[in-house]
Amino acid sequence: MHWASLASLALVAPSHALIRFGCSQLVVDRLDPLVQPGDVPAAHLHQIIGGNSFVPDMRPAIHDPAAMSTCTTCQPADDFSNYWTASLYFRARNGTYKRVMQKPNVGFEGQKGGMTVYYMQNQLADYQQEAKVTAFQPGFRMIVGSPTATTKAEADKFPQLSYTCLQDMGTRFPEFKAFPKEFCPAGVMVNIRFPTCWNGVDLDSPDHMAHMAYPASGTFESQGPCPASHPKRMPQLMYEVIYETAPFNDPELWPEDGSQPFVYSFGDATGYGNHGDYIFGWKDDSLQKIMDEECYVGCSSMKTQSVEAMNSCSVPRMVDEEIGDEGWISALPGHGQMNATLAVKPRAFRG
Ligand SMILES: *[C@@H]1O[C@H](CO)[C@@H](O)[C@H](O)[C@H]1NC(C)=O
Ligand SMILES: *[C@@H]1O[C@H](CO)[C@@H](O)[C@H](O)[C@H]1NC(C)=O
Repeated sequence: MHWASLASLALVAPSHALIRFGCSQLVVDRLDPLVQPGDVPAAHLHQIIGGNSFVPDMRPAIHDPAAMSTCTTCQPADDFSNYWTASLYFRARNGTYKRVMQKPNVGFEGQKGGMTVYYMQNQLADYQQEAKVTAFQPGFRMIVGSPTATTKAEADKFPQLSYTCLQDMGTRFPEFKAFPKEFCPAGVMVNIRFPTCWNGVDLDSPDHMAHMAYPASGTFESQGPCPASHPKRMPQLMYEVIYETAPFNDPELWPEDGSQPFVYSFGDATGYGNHGDYIFGWKDDSLQKIMDEECYVGCSSMKTQSVEAMNSCSVPRMVDEEIGDEGWISALPGHGQMNATLAVKPRAFRG
């Protein structure tokens, strides 16, 4: 389905809120404030968008993104959250690597790399968006997916992480759990949907996942009920990350054994290790206000800023290393470690 048609339909079917917006790249750096707070460098390279207060240590006791950011790379002017995923690399036949750049979705031309973010009350194609949700609270953070997943069975524990092989920029189906094994003419889109049921108490948990859960039966899309342990229905947060793989779509460059050449910054060439990270940082109750509005995509209570303003917000890289943006690099940054210190440091996580 093409977004142009969704957006025009939206105009005639006003209801509760679904927001979809672009965010430019804030920085690409080997930092991981959730899994390795304070560590410079962290295990593997990430691409990060959102508020410019992004730093290696963002524990809620010492860090408030909405108060500390002075700009954001996201279209909503009140959103100082940080959103990130691992970076993607192309591995050449000779074993060297180049980073695969990101590109904006249709309708967000001019945005510098980055990704597209959604907050939904009901499934994407439901123009009514009437189901009630509670917005995330200050201090809230979460992760979905696991970099150590190397099999489909492990990846299936996270039902809504997937890939779309873009034939053109409007392709949305089918979705795959692993990296596509053939050329994708318009790029590879990574779809990251977070769980939607909150335990209503903890802003975080030691694995950054246990405070959230999937519906007890059915899905978010079918409005399946939340489990008793996690009764609060939250917005579905979703990322679309589009990698510009076209420059590498040359049979002379692809592996000769029929495998595919893309590999995550943590060394995963299957794609099963797909994961996304989120630190909430909307100003005051701006997200709840939007979620309570009757709107679809064009939500008037969402204050927006220009693409120029989004693109002019950035932070310098802290880890001084070659990341394969110019020349080829002989190894992934940090040698593509999955977790280095998942020997989780006990930290205060209750905000
Ligand atoms: C490795 O392969 C890439 C892509 O084919 C090529 O551009 C690069 O020059 C090669 N590097 C070396 C050291 O052979
Ligand atoms: C860290 O990654 C290694 C694989 O590199 C894996 O064997 C190990 O179980 C992981 N540790 C944790 C705590 O996930």
